Amino acid sequence: MDPIVSFEDVEVDYDGRSVLKDICFEVKPGEIVGLAGPSGSGKTTLLRHLIGLKRPVRGRIRLFGEPIASLSPASQRLLRRRIGVLFQGGALLSSLNVFGNVALPLQEMGFPDFWVRPMVSLALSLAGLSPENAARMPSELSGGMVTRVALARGLVAEPELLLLDEPTAGLDPIVADGFIALMGDLQKNLGITALMISHDLRALERLCHRLVLVGDGRLIAQGRFEDIRQQADPRIRAFFRLDGGGRP
Ligand SMILES: Nc1ncnc2c1ncn2[C@@H]1O[C@H](COP(=O)(O)OP(=O)(O)O)[C@@H](O)[C@H]1O
Ligand SMILES: [Mg+2]
Repeated sequence: MDPIVSFEDVEVDYDGRSVLKDICFEVKPGEIVGLAGPSGSGKTTLLRHLIGLKRPVRGRIRLFGEPIASLSPASQRLLRRRIGVLFQGGALLSSLNVFGNVALPLQEMGFPDFWVRPMVSLALSLAGLSPENAARMPSELSGGMVTRVALARGLVAEPELLLLDEPTAGLDPIVADGFIALMGDLQKNLGITALMISHDLRALERLCHRLVLVGDGRLIAQGRFEDIRQQADPRIRAFFRLDGGGRP
C-alpha cells in the first residue's frame, strides 16, 4: 500500500538556520507512527511542513502521494480536509463552546447544519465525551477534557490521517492513561492512521507501531519502539532515560 505520508531526504529551517536535515520516514495506512525527540528539536516544525504551512529547504514531502509544497493553495486546502489535527495544547477557540469548536471544520467545509449536529455528536462520543459537554466553554474544562474536545474536532470530518502534537503533555498520568486507552480503542475499532508527536514514553510504547526519533538536527533512529530501545547510542539511552536515575 502506498504511504499516506512520506518524507524523502527533507531539510527544514527557520530563517536560514537549519532545524532538521536528512529526514526520511513514512506513515502507511492503518499505522500509528510516533515522532519523538528533545524539546526544540523540530518536531512541530516537521508537522507544519507536512501540512504545507512551510516549504522544505531540501527534499520532498508527500501527503497522500502528492508533493504538498508544489501544489496550489487551493489543492493544499483540499488535501488538508483529509487530515485531522490535534495541536499542542488543544488550541481551542475560547470564544466558542465545545459544540462550536468541534463543528468548525465542518462549517468551514460548508456542511449544512442538519449534517453538522449528528457528526459533532458522533465525534464527541468517539472522543469519550458525553453530549452534555457540548454547551460548555473551554474555560470550564479540565486539561484532559480540552484534549478530548480537540480530538473530537480532529476526528469530526472523518479524516484519513490524524496528526497529534504532544496530546498527553501537561496531563496528569491517570488522565494521560485515559487518553492513551481511548486512542488505543480508536486504533482497534477504526484502524486510524496517525502521526503522533510525543515524548511520553508510555504513550509511544502503547500506541505506536513505529517510532521516529530526531535530535541534534537529524534523524537519530526509526523502527519498533523495543528495537530502538535496545540501541547503545547515548542520545537514545538518554531519551529512554536508561542512563542513571530513570526507569530501567
Ligand atoms: N516561528 C518560529 N520562528 C523562528 N524559529 C522557530 C519558530 N518556531 C520554532 N522555531 C525554532 O525551531 C526549532 C524547532 O522548534 P519546534 O519545531 O517547535 O520544536 P519541537 O516541536 O521539537 O519542540 C527551535 O529551535 C525553535 O526555536
Ligand atoms: Mg513542538
